[in-house]
Amino acid sequence: MEVKTSLLDNMIGVGDMVLLEPLSEDSFLENLKNRFEHNEIYTYIGSVVISMNPYRSLPIFTPEKVEEYRNRNFYELSPHIYALADEAYRSLRDQDKDQCILITGESGAGKTEASKLVMSYVAAVCGKGQEVNKVKEQLLQSNPVLEAFGNAKTVRNDNSSRFGKYMDIEFDFKGDPLGGVISNYLLEKSRVVKQPRGERNFHVFYQLLSGASDESLKKLKLHRDFSKYNYLSLDSAAVNGLDDAANFRTVRNAMQIVGFMEDEVQSVMELVAAVLKLGNIEFKPDSRSNGSDESRIKDKNDLKEMCELLGIEQSVLERAFSYRTVEAKLEKVSTTLNVAQAYYARDALAKNLYSRLFSWLVTRINESIKAQGKTRHKVMGVLDIYGFEIFEDNSFEQFIINYCNEKLQQIFIELTLREEQEEYIREGIEWTNIEYFNNAVICDLIENNQNGILAMLDEECLRPGTVTDETFLDKLNTICAEHLHFESRLSKNSKFLTDHSLPHSCFRIQHYAGKVLYRAEGFVDKNNDLLYRDLSQAMYKANHKLIKQLFPEGNPAKVNLKRPLTAGFQFKASVGTLMRNLQTKNPNYIRCIKPNDKKASHIFTDSLVRHQLRYLGLMENVRVRRAGYAFRQPYEPCLERYKMLCKRTWPHWLGPAREGVEVLMSDLPVPAEEFSFGRSKIFIRNPRTLFFLEERRRQCLQDLATLIQKIYRGWKCRGHFLLLKKSQIVVSAWYRRYAQQKKYQKIKSATTVVQSYTRGWQARKLLRELKYQKRCVEAVTTISAFWHGTQARMELRRLKQEVRNKHAVTVIWAYWQGTKARRELRRLKEEARRKHAVAVIWAYWQGLKIRREYRKFFRANAGKKIYDFTIQRIMQKYFLGLKSTLPSMSPIDKNWPARPYLFLGGVHSELRRIFHLWRCKKYRSQFTEEKKAVYEEKLEASELFKDKKALYPSSVSQPFKGDYLEINKNPKYQKLSIAMEDKVLLADVVNKINRANGKGTARLFLLTKNSVVLADQKTGQVKASVPLPDLTSVSVSTQSDGFFALKLKEGSASAVKGDFLLSSEHLIEIITKIHRMGTTAADREQLDIDISDEFLVQFKHDKVCVKFIQGVPKNGNSVSCKRKNNRLLEVSVPSTA
Ligand SMILES: Nc1ncnc2c1ncn2[C@@H]1O[C@H](COP(=O)(O)OP(=O)(O)OP(=O)(O)O)[C@@H](O)[C@H]1O
Ligand SMILES: [Mg+2]
Repeated sequence: MEVKTSLLDNMIGVGDMVLLEPLSEDSFLENLKNRFEHNEIYTYIGSVVISMNPYRSLPIFTPEKVEEYRNRNFYELSPHIYALADEAYRSLRDQDKDQCILITGESGAGKTEASKLVMSYVAAVCGKGQEVNKVKEQLLQSNPVLEAFGNAKTVRNDNSSRFGKYMDIEFDFKGDPLGGVISNYLLEKSRVVKQPRGERNFHVFYQLLSGASDESLKKLKLHRDFSKYNYLSLDSAAVNGLDDAANFRTVRNAMQIVGFMEDEVQSVMELVAAVLKLGNIEFKPDSRSNGSDESRIKDKNDLKEMCELLGIEQSVLERAFSYRTVEAKLEKVSTTLNVAQAYYARDALAKNLYSRLFSWLVTRINESIKAQGKTRHKVMGVLDIYGFEIFEDNSFEQFIINYCNEKLQQIFIELTLREEQEEYIREGIEWTNIEYFNNAVICDLIENNQNGILAMLDEECLRPGTVTDETFLDKLNTICAEHLHFESRLSKNSKFLTDHSLPHSCFRIQHYAGKVLYRAEGFVDKNNDLLYRDLSQAMYKANHKLIKQLFPEGNPAKVNLKRPLTAGFQFKASVGTLMRNLQTKNPNYIRCIKPNDKKASHIFTDSLVRHQLRYLGLMENVRVRRAGYAFRQPYEPCLERYKMLCKRTWPHWLGPAREGVEVLMSDLPVPAEEFSFGRSKIFIRNPRTLFFLEERRRQCLQDLATLIQKIYRGWKCRGHFLLLKKSQIVVSAWYRRYAQQKKYQKIKSATTVVQSYTRGWQARKLLRELKYQKRCVEAVTTISAFWHGTQARMELRRLKQEVRNKHAVTVIWAYWQGTKARRELRRLKEEARRKHAVAVIWAYWQGLKIRREYRKFFRANAGKKIYDFTIQRIMQKYFLGLKSTLPSMSPIDKNWPARPYLFLGGVHSELRRIFHLWRCKKYRSQFTEEKKAVYEEKLEASELFKDKKALYPSSVSQPFKGDYLEINKNPKYQKLSIAMEDKVLLADVVNKINRANGKGTARLFLLTKNSVVLADQKTGQVKASVPLPDLTSVSVSTQSDGFFALKLKEGSASAVKGDFLLSSEHLIEIITKIHRMGTTAADREQLDIDISDEFLVQFKHDKVCVKFIQGVPKNGNSVSCKRKNNRLLEVSVPSTA
């Protein structure tokens, strides 16, 4: 079994005393010395760390060292306090066990330093983060503050803790610190007023005077000079290697980090200053007239300054130093204080003030460092209590301190020695008992409730009558005389009667760490811890927030007549609580050893160390450890922890845990003597075996992690692979589809090409065939055509020949016939001529004959009569014929029968004229008078406009309606109609052309016999009325527009506004009617109608030329009128062409 461990390799001496061979006090001492001389200050006894005070700084507390020890097994590296701190922290974090670090050793052994190292290590390895770091910083910085107020230089230690401190650091489930709680135990307050030779008061007094600025000192009414203060002993005011001024700055800074407000710091300093001032108050005797002794303050300056500092009324405090009021039920008795009593009162006040201030500081620090909100998970307690001490002159304080150390030794014995041995027996492990000194008997001597020293002291203090330290000692002498560890000159135990080292006023106790001689003087007072009520009331009256808070019992409203608890009682109770608290936690021991009494490095005083290792019981510790087992664990957690080391127990063991552990251990290459099976636990003898198990477990966990990792990776890769495969199938399917599609398309196009080629070829072949056939057919056709043609031509030729022949025959025949006919014709003509000539001759002859015949009857008028008769007959026939062929009665019918005889030409045209006139007359006779008038108007219009104005032709077919508005019927124009005097001949809507812009405004245009009226279209209101005589002329254009200008007689009333330029759709009718009015009225001049494309119109004072031009048809052929300039109004008429 190869164990890689520096605990054994290259080790100076033996790192673990359990492995020391041979084991004896000398070899133990030698081993410690050897290691100490090689700067190895730490040595193990199993899991207990022995720490030697090196009295110099060693390079083994660096951050690198912290990293080295971090997360390493306890036995893996050379012994170190960090290994213990790491072990405690890890089992707190990983195994959920509350831990406590118990640091013991005598004064100056290095307990406080060790506690700081543990705290700084834990702070370095636990979680990080802004909040966590703040908590850590506050926890660490609480140390300098408490040390300044609670530590002092003693003959044994320059930085001796004069109070007990137990600090619980609270962690969350991750192992991050959440905060902490500090408990303090009995401050050695007597030091405030008196220090033994070679010792100092608490550091803070010196630090304040050395480090505070002049200004601050002035504010606090202090002088820098220590010698000015009675409470500061002078002989050892300066301590080697202690820079009070620098430390003051550190403390101020630490107070700030912990969270003290500026005013709080100031108040604290004021109280410290007040204590110093208090020490300077001196009294002198003053006899009163009644003979009683009285004290008087020598110099009131310090009292005054102190009162000013604390805001106390001077007279109140002065009185409190002079009188003592005792209240008993209904009585209140004031007695004067003599000088001794006054000094006692002064010192009691100083001690109380300081110790209460110290307790307040602890409470205030707790307030700052307490865990905020989050739930506390686990706790690590660090106990740094004042060490066991033996002075020349030991008093109540030493008694209390040593009692506390007895208790700690007791708990150590309980947990390591007795408990261990008892456990072996309990578990049925073979065990040979090891003798050790159990200090329970000493503890009993001190704390026994019936006859313990503390109980007796309390009894004395509470007893009525005269109580002095002597009566207390007497009591001890009677009650404890028999006790083996109690020694007194006056006790019944005759052994000490002649012991001159034991004065009468003292008693001696044989502590576990040696005999201590206690002077009984002061025990009663210190236990009573009395402060005159007058003083506490004076303090309460102070106008100072903090001091008022420190003396709540001074409140007159809360006067408590009960005696306060004694100091001894309180201490015993708090130590009891502490012990109970420690017992609930997993203990980790640091046993501090002081190598010499000179506070010097490199000196190893054998006797001193031997004494310490004896009383600390370290030898017994090693023996128990060696005889016993280094490690034990109940079967269930053991199996749970190591079951992975055996295939049979991994992953599940279904049987009882013990069997599982047995199987597990048998499976491992561990010798059988290395472990034993107890009733409920397995015991492992050697730490190395445990280390081996841990190492195997670590490897196994690594393997398991690798396995899990492997399976997880496999699973992940498989998942990935399956995904890839799936996607590959999809991809390949798509690709194949795509490729096949492409191939198919290729084949398809190739097929199409081949097909097209084939079809083309076939088609061409077919075409060729068809062409051939066609050519054949054509050839046949051609041939046949040719043949037929030839045949036909031959036939034609033949027929032609035939026809020619026939024609020739016909022609010849015709010629012959013609000749024949012409001959016949000539013959017939000759014959006819001859016949006619015969007939004429016959006629003539007949005529001649008739004439010769009738000559005799009608000779005279016959010719004329025949002529007339003939004429008559012709006329008769003409007229009758004309009657039947007469044209229609329409006047526009131009037909007329043709003239039958030339001589009737004149008659014929005359008849035609007569007939036309008659026809017209007939036509006219059908008309009524109105119709006639209308036609007359039309006729007049024709006369006026025909061939003069292009608008005219379109007006011919429109009947002249006259009243277009039906003014008489339309109720809208009723008023207007009534207003008109004459009959309205024409009523129409016209556009009155605006002179300014040429735009038209609709107006009613009314024409009567006498006037022209223009009225508003909507309202019918007359706008203008022009008597017709005022009209001189009307101007219109030659074109198809409806514009007309009514020109007025110059100077007439109507002409004031000038001429009217109007436009109407019924222009021809309007002008004709106006003109007609002029024609018909006899008294008026004929109205001129001026038809031209340019005419002048008088607009008010200007004459404006209205010019008509032919425009391009726009906007639906409408006429547009624009004012071109002042003198020209241009009317664009769309050409009608
Ligand atoms: N590990 C260490 N390295 C260097 N110096 C140390 C170490 N431990 C202790 N010392 C020195 O020893 C002195 C006394 O130590 P410390 O104050 O811790 O003793 P203590 O056991 O607390 O005594 P007390 O019971 O009087 O409070 C320290 O001021 C310091 O100079
Ligand atoms: Mg200390």
